[in-house]
Amino acid sequence: MDHFQLRNGVLHAEDVPLSRIAEAVGTPVYVYSRATLTRHARVFREALAGLDDPHIAFAVKANPNLAVLKVLAGEGFGADVVSGGELTRALAAGIPAAEIVFSGVGKTRSELSQGLDAGIGQFNLESEEEGRELAQIAHQRGQTVPCALRVNPDVDARTHEKISTGKRENKFGVPLDRASEIYAALSGLPGLEMRGVAVHIGSQLLSLDPLETAYEKLGTLIAELRARGCTVTHADLGGGLGVPYRKGEVAPSPAEYGAMVARVTSGWNVRLSFEPGRVIAGNAGVLLTRVIRAKRSGNGPPFVVVDAAMNDLARPAMYGAWHDFDAVEPTGERFTAHIVGPICETGDTFAMDRDTDALGPGDLAVFRTAGAYGATMASSYNSRGFVPEVLVDGDRFAVVADRIDPAAIMAAERVPEWL
Ligand code: LLP
Repeated sequence: MDHFQLRNGVLHAEDVPLSRIAEAVGTPVYVYSRATLTRHARVFREALAGLDDPHIAFAVKANPNLAVLKVLAGEGFGADVVSGGELTRALAAGIPAAEIVFSGVGKTRSELSQGLDAGIGQFNLESEEEGRELAQIAHQRGQTVPCALRVNPDVDARTHEKISTGKRENKFGVPLDRASEIYAALSGLPGLEMRGVAVHIGSQLLSLDPLETAYEKLGTLIAELRARGCTVTHADLGGGLGVPYRKGEVAPSPAEYGAMVARVTSGWNVRLSFEPGRVIAGNAGVLLTRVIRAKRSGNGPPFVVVDAAMNDLARPAMYGAWHDFDAVEPTGERFTAHIVGPICETGDTFAMDRDTDALGPGDLAVFRTAGAYGATMASSYNSRGFVPEVLVDGDRFAVVADRIDPAAIMAAERVPEWL
C-alpha cells in the first residue's frame, strides 16, 4: 500500500496535491512519501518478527537520499552499502557504523580502509583475494574485522538478466563448491573474524522459490562449515523481494517471505541479516512530470512527450521496465499513446501503445513505483540537469535534493589553457 491516492480528483502524496509540488518545485521531480517508507519498513520488520533479533540493512543503492536514509534510520534500519560514497551517506544520515554492512564486488583498497576507519559492522567478502587484502590492511592497523563470505549458489532468480546475480556465470560471490575451503582459509588469517555467510541472487524477484533454493544451499554450507570446525554465527540473506509495478501484478508479500525464511532457517542457530531495497522504497516514490506536447504520428497513437526522460528514470530504457503512468488530474477520458521523453534516441521511451489517462500539453502525470532505482540512476545525458527530490510528510513537504542545473554541471569542467 502507498500514500499516492486520488482525492477530490487530484492525485496527492499523503495530504499534498502533487500539483502544488509541481508549482513550487517545477518538473520533473521525484516525490517520496514518508508515511509509505515508514509503513514498508514496519511491515518488513513485522514479517520477520518470528526470527530471533534479525538485522535489517536497507540497500542504500535503491535510494541513497539522505532524508530517506534518515527516515529508515529512525525505524531502526542499518545500511547495506557498496561504495565509499554510500558509506559516507549512511553515516551522515545517522546510521550507526556497527549497523552497516559493506557489500560489493570491487571494493578498492581505499574503500576497505574507509570501512575500517568507520568501524562498520561487517564486510561481505566477494572473493578470497578480497579477503586476503582486507586481512592484510586490517592486521597492519591492529584491527580484527567481522566478515561474511558471499557465496554464489548458482540459482536462477527468474528475473531480468541484468539484475540476476546468483548464477554461476555472474561476477558475484565465490562458487558454492569452493566456499567451504575459502571460508576455512580466510578464517585462519589474522585481521579477519570470519563469522558468517551471505547470499543475494538478484532483484525484483516475483517468486520465492529461487530464494528458498538459495537459502537451502546456504543452510547446507553452514552445516558443512561447522563440520569442518569453522565458526558461523551470522547469515546474510540479501534483498531481492519484488514489488508490483503494474496494476494487478502480484509480488510475494513480506509476510510470505518471512514465513519461508523462518521455515528454511529454523535450526541454523545464527543471527540473520536482510538487505531489502526495492520493497521498502519502490512504491514510496513517484516521478512527477509535465507533458510538453502531444505529437501525432502517422496513423498510430500519438507520442506524448513529457519533460522527464531516460536520464531521469533509466529503468524503462535499461531493462524494458514497466512503470504505471497516471494523470495527476484525470478527467475520466482515456486514450492510447506512446509515452516518450525529449532525449534524442529511441530508447528514451517510457511506454508504447499504453492505454492511459488522456493527456494534453501542460498536464501533469506520474510514473509510479519510482522510489527505488529512480533518482539514484540518473545521469545528465543530453546536458540535462539532475532532477530534484521532495519528501512529503502529512501536509508538509520539503525539497530533499536540489535540482542541479546543467550550468552547475558545466561549472565543474575545465578547458585547459593550451586549447
Ligand atoms: N543486496 C545486494 C548485495 C544487492 O546487490 C542488492 C541489489 C540488494 C541487496 C537490494 O536488492 P533489492 O531488495 O532492491 O532487490 N537497478 C536495478 C536493480 C539492481 C539491484 C542491484 N542489487 C533496477 O532498477 O531494477
